[in-house]
Amino acid sequence: MFARSARAFSKSKVNTNANFRRFASTTPKPKVKGILPSPTTLLVVAIGAGLYSLDARSAINEYVWCPLIRQTTSAEGGHKLGISLLRNGLYPRLFVDYDDPVLQVDVFGKTLNNPIGMAAGFDKEGVVIDPLYNLGFGYVEIGSVTPLPQPGNPQPRFFRLPQDDAVINRYGFNSSGHWNVLGHLRVRFESLLPKHPQAVDNSFREGKLLGINLGKNKTGDEVEDYLKGVDQFGPYADTLVINVSSPNTPGLRDLQSESKLTNLLTAVVKQRDQLAGKLLDPSVKPPVLVKVAPDLTEPEIESIAKSAKDAKIDGIIMSNTTVQRPVDKLITQGAVVNETGGLSGKPLKEIALASFKLLRKYTKDSDLVLVGCGGIDSGKDALDYARAGASFVQLYTGFAYKGPGLPRKIKDEITQTLKAEGKTWKEIVGSDDP
Ligand SMILES: Cc1cc2nc3c(=O)[nH]c(=O)nc-3n(C[C@H](O)[C@H](O)[C@H](O)COP(=O)(O)O)c2cc1C
Repeated sequence: MFARSARAFSKSKVNTNANFRRFASTTPKPKVKGILPSPTTLLVVAIGAGLYSLDARSAINEYVWCPLIRQTTSAEGGHKLGISLLRNGLYPRLFVDYDDPVLQVDVFGKTLNNPIGMAAGFDKEGVVIDPLYNLGFGYVEIGSVTPLPQPGNPQPRFFRLPQDDAVINRYGFNSSGHWNVLGHLRVRFESLLPKHPQAVDNSFREGKLLGINLGKNKTGDEVEDYLKGVDQFGPYADTLVINVSSPNTPGLRDLQSESKLTNLLTAVVKQRDQLAGKLLDPSVKPPVLVKVAPDLTEPEIESIAKSAKDAKIDGIIMSNTTVQRPVDKLITQGAVVNETGGLSGKPLKEIALASFKLLRKYTKDSDLVLVGCGGIDSGKDALDYARAGASFVQLYTGFAYKGPGLPRKIKDEITQTLKAEGKTWKEIVGSDDP
């Protein structure tokens, strides 16, 4: 009985299969095939999407990961997390980072592959130099470093103004001090030198430079602290930056007055000139730059230009953060706007660029290299500074908001604009000069 019903079942199954085959043969197969992607197509799409999200330029970084980090961390916590991810290699890569020759810049007797730099304050300790180069920066500036370790101001001391793509900080030179940062640089140096025995730059990357930004301790000496920095860091630096413009160290900005600045910079240049025996390439002494504030009057800017020329330094970075609050231009309202500290990011651009143009007016008769900084987060911003006379530019806050793909995106935008105009970066530097 069981066997009979089993046979009947199998017979009916055969019939069913036959029916199905008949049905299938009359069904327009190609249509179904056209709608459903093949497993190979699905695999290729999945790999492509995976690779895309691993690329630094992917929109997922700007529109998913960065906002998520902002939602879940304090500003200082987010900064620490960013450094930690970079330090541990947990960051998206650039699968292609080709710098078109139109981006090249000649500065300090060298050629930079591209004019986009990371400004001081992001990597204060010199622990993520190589990840920053990997993300496409042509110049990385670490610091500010103070001679002795100091904790900086009490927390909270870093505030986000996300509607304005801006931040306010009053870190106050939190630094682990010269010895600790030197330790990081020496470890890097010793691991890279055997691989690049011919290297002449401390970046250890062709067409890239490493800047070291020097600060002073809160109660330190206003000349000696910088001289110690020149002596200790000169051998590891492609540029030395004298920071006299942080608004968060009492009295620091007073060093921008003409007599103090000329005295300080002259002493720094003298100290730099004594480094020869300690350098990777003794014939190339690290150029000295001074970093100044955007909150200066025209006579003050003129006097800074004079000090820089008199002391025979090599360049000026305009600018640090601003103590101004352009409230009529800020979307953010409320107490956070009035937090003490320096404002940076988008709202700084107009202020910094205006001061930059004044600085250019008083330096264009000299060999001083001008570096533009303040509110840059697009190719257009960078080009505005270049046309106003910047040999290269730096950014920080834009990177925090737009994420790891920003340097590459800016470089692509600049390349496109320059090619459309049939120009190179070098050709447009200072093209706005009257
Ligand atoms: C959180 C934070 C910390 C900073 N720390 C330093 C610093 O230690 N030394 C320095 O010279 N500039 C420092 N800066 C200023 C930046 O280097 C840069 O000059 C300024 O932020 C303007 O550029 P941006 O608008 O692209 O951020 C800091 C900026 C921020 C936002």
